[in-house]
Amino acid sequence: MESGDQQQWDAIILGAGAAGMMCAAVAGQRGRRVLLVDHADAPGKKILISGGGRCNFTNIHTAPDRYLSANPHFAKSALGRYSAQDFLALVELYGIAWHEKTLGQLFCDGSARQIVEMLQAECDAGGVTMILGAAVTNIDHGDGQYRVRVGEREHRAPALVLATGGPSIPKMGASGFAYDVARHFGLSVVQPRPALVPFTLGPDDALFQALSGVSADVGVRWGKIRFREAALFTHRGLSGPAMLQISSYWQHRTPIQVDFLPDRGADWLLEEKRARPRTQVRKLLGQALPERLADALLERAGVQGELGALSDKALRQLAARLADWPFTPSGTEGYAKAEVTVGGIATAGLSSRTMEATRVPGLYAIGEAVDVTGWLGGYNFQWAWASGWAAGQAL
Ligand code: FDA
Repeated sequence: MESGDQQQWDAIILGAGAAGMMCAAVAGQRGRRVLLVDHADAPGKKILISGGGRCNFTNIHTAPDRYLSANPHFAKSALGRYSAQDFLALVELYGIAWHEKTLGQLFCDGSARQIVEMLQAECDAGGVTMILGAAVTNIDHGDGQYRVRVGEREHRAPALVLATGGPSIPKMGASGFAYDVARHFGLSVVQPRPALVPFTLGPDDALFQALSGVSADVGVRWGKIRFREAALFTHRGLSGPAMLQISSYWQHRTPIQVDFLPDRGADWLLEEKRARPRTQVRKLLGQALPERLADALLERAGVQGELGALSDKALRQLAARLADWPFTPSGTEGYAKAEVTVGGIATAGLSSRTMEATRVPGLYAIGEAVDVTGWLGGYNFQWAWASGWAAGQAL
């Protein structure tokens, strides 16, 4: 039935972000009549700010073990069927120049806007209708139809896709909306928390806050999880890729361990003592690390003087401490600074092949709204593309 204030579709997708646009384009190009709704006034706003404006759109090392989820197997199917190579092929089809920055991370040479324009063109090719800048005021379900009220109009479809992301960066309009709708339909939600987020340090570590702006290549560990990347001291605590990565795993009130000398062997200080006994330990460490950081670490460790004047035991203890330096963050900078959200709509209630809710026919969830969270480095967009593609094939 179609009238002035009612409209019928094959699928309604809520959220014109990375996952929603991909899903809409795929379903539209398969001949489905698709409505894509977003409360923001433009699509893909997080894509625009991603990767420092150049969008780290995928990672060539994408593999399921680079994702956090209550079910580590859930992402396998979608990631296997729509790979980083598939997205790259699309990027190349549009003539978008790209480069690999580091660790398999692919970025646009030009601007993230090219990715949004590409997705917009793909949606246009599928005849997708977009409603932007409009709030969804009501959703219900009956007689096999989802009824979604947007402004004065009621839109109906046998399929509803939740693609409104997670609550990270609320000032950009991010919300827990997908969780509320999912709960309304009886799905469970794994406790969400900010991830890929800087740590804050408490007064005990005030010494390190004075190092704001200093960075170093470190190893960082939480339990058995390890990353080797750059860390950055900030006026509030710890940031940089290494810290963002480990933050996704970190649990409150537990320590993270930092290896400040990941390229030096355990006996490095002893070897230097034998070779250069008159060298000040401060000078030696200042050659391996930024000087201000070396000073702060030695001050905290209470070690100073010439290498030759320090006992082997003291040097071994110092080396061990520098290789496994504990910080217990007081917290994180929260959703305001988190790139993504860990947790979300529980995968236990979703089909890993189609993203459809197993007990609620026609309801789908994709992208960051789902309890699948990637590492830093293009993995989260790859999940958005792959899960959006999987649902788009099933609608
Ligand atoms: P996304 O957040 O993209 O889209 C959700 C959409 O739903 C938005 O358009 C929003 O307006 C809309 N919406 C929300 N609530 C709604 C409501 N109630 N009604 C209607 N619409 C609603 N990842 C990566 O792989 N590489 C990178 O370089 C970066 N860089 C990066 C930088 C920064 C600063 C951030 C914050 C994040 C990243 N990310 C990233 C993460 C990446 O942006 C994220 O994983 C994806 O955008 C998730 O895609 P989704 O489509 O699921 O949500």
